[in-house]
Amino acid sequence: MALYVKAAEILEKAEKKQGALKTLVYDSKFNNVKQLFALVFETHKFSAVLEEIISTTKLLKLTRLKLPQAKVLVYDLLLGHGLKCGGAWKAALLKNRARLQAALARIKVRQGVCNNQDLIPANGPQDQRPLPRYVRVNTLKTSVADTVDYLKREGFTYLGQARTVEDLTLKGTHFVQDMDIPEILIFSPKTDFHNHFLYKAGHLILQDKASCLPAHVLHPPPGSVVLDACAAPGNKTSHLAALMENRGRLLALDLDAKRLSTMSTLLLRAGVTCQTLRHQDFLKVDPQSAEYREVEYILLDPSCSGSGMVCLRDDSDTDPARLSSLAAFQLKCLKHALSFPRVNRLVYSTCSVHRQENEDVVSACLQENNHFRLVPVLPQWPEHGLPPLSQCLRASPSSTRTHGFFVAMLQRHSETDVALGGSLSPSLSTPLVSVPESEVSDTEDQPEPTSDSTDQTGPGPALKKRRRKRKRKKKNKTSGASGLTTQ
Ligand SMILES: C[S@@+](CC[C@H](N)C(=O)[O-])C[C@H]1O[C@@H](n2cnc3c(N)ncnc32)[C@H](O)[C@@H]1O
Repeated sequence: MALYVKAAEILEKAEKKQGALKTLVYDSKFNNVKQLFALVFETHKFSAVLEEIISTTKLLKLTRLKLPQAKVLVYDLLLGHGLKCGGAWKAALLKNRARLQAALARIKVRQGVCNNQDLIPANGPQDQRPLPRYVRVNTLKTSVADTVDYLKREGFTYLGQARTVEDLTLKGTHFVQDMDIPEILIFSPKTDFHNHFLYKAGHLILQDKASCLPAHVLHPPPGSVVLDACAAPGNKTSHLAALMENRGRLLALDLDAKRLSTMSTLLLRAGVTCQTLRHQDFLKVDPQSAEYREVEYILLDPSCSGSGMVCLRDDSDTDPARLSSLAAFQLKCLKHALSFPRVNRLVYSTCSVHRQENEDVVSACLQENNHFRLVPVLPQWPEHGLPPLSQCLRASPSSTRTHGFFVAMLQRHSETDVALGGSLSPSLSTPLVSVPESEVSDTEDQPEPTSDSTDQTGPGPALKKRRRKRKRKKKNKTSGASGLTTQ
């Protein structure tokens, strides 16, 4: 028991960045430091998976263990060499062993891995695979149906709408429609649209799927008053404008003049007309002023470590001092955003994988703002916020085939209460799988829509064939190796 007590203590400190793991272990004066170090080090490596297992099995509620204690015990029970303690903790863990094992098995099936080692985020082979090419159809200029037809005529092969994350692994000229955000089309990683006419004309926006989540989740209706607080270079702003159908007021601020000027060009190309750009420090904006007091929706995507960006990972994104200072800035921004008198709904997002910039910021802010609460979004999404913030979304190369990302939606209490009674907005209640009709077309360059629309509302024959093939393959393989290796 002493081993687990000490290991949990050190793990907690290390994960709160209160010291380097090795130093904390050696300073502990524990009589078997080697054993202690191995346990804490290994538990830390599997931290995200362990948190998911503990959260989905509700282990903390069932056992009254604290999270770090549960983590070290579950690590040894499921992934290590077995429990090395007796007493109440051992009894509690053994009582829940089957549920814990089932939760681990589900994660492995979902991630398509056989070995426990492959669950470690940074080293897992899943992370090494190139990400699919995501393209957002700019519905201010065209429709998904028209874009699909255009690309089909150019020689691309449309496989219909994806149903699972496995369908996002594509080869050659194959492409699919996304299952979560209908205006996203997905291509094989090597597809390059930079010189494509549709991109140059602003019909397509090259944007990772995870980065489309904030606007999609916030979903301001046409005619609303929206603030994009840290907006440049503006991909999320143009997504918001598309959802608002260019109607209403979209205030977009940024501190960086150069980025704002890039943004202005991008918005022009995307046909955005409902925006007001301001070169301004968001923290200095007066929420009560005439320009801002009517704001109902806020998208807050502040500067962060960028640790979720697969191509940008380096050591600086884990520097504790930098993380603390970013988290302090993010918290300040979030608190300020909640002080806007008429704001009803706010989305906070980062492209960071660090709890400190994500769940910790949201929790700290909500503690001081009890008139707002977290709202669960996209129930089908595979990765959620770290416990207890399971209402939030997380994205990662292995679970969603995107960059690492975090999204939280906060809503003012009164509206949430009504919403939970049954009048949720489309972004909260509707399973977002339908393809928009080819309703918007404001350029001469649009191809004629074809009547072949059936293959855009469900899987096409080719995708069905792939699924049948995968099912056959699965039958012949062990359960862990399902479908992710088709590339
Ligand atoms: C993560 S980027 C935003 C990306 C943008 N939302 C998009 O989708 O293209 C963060 C932005 O916040 C801006 N920023 C940082 N501090 C700010 C502040 N105090 N007020 C306004 N903007 C700020 C940065 O200049 C940067 O452009």
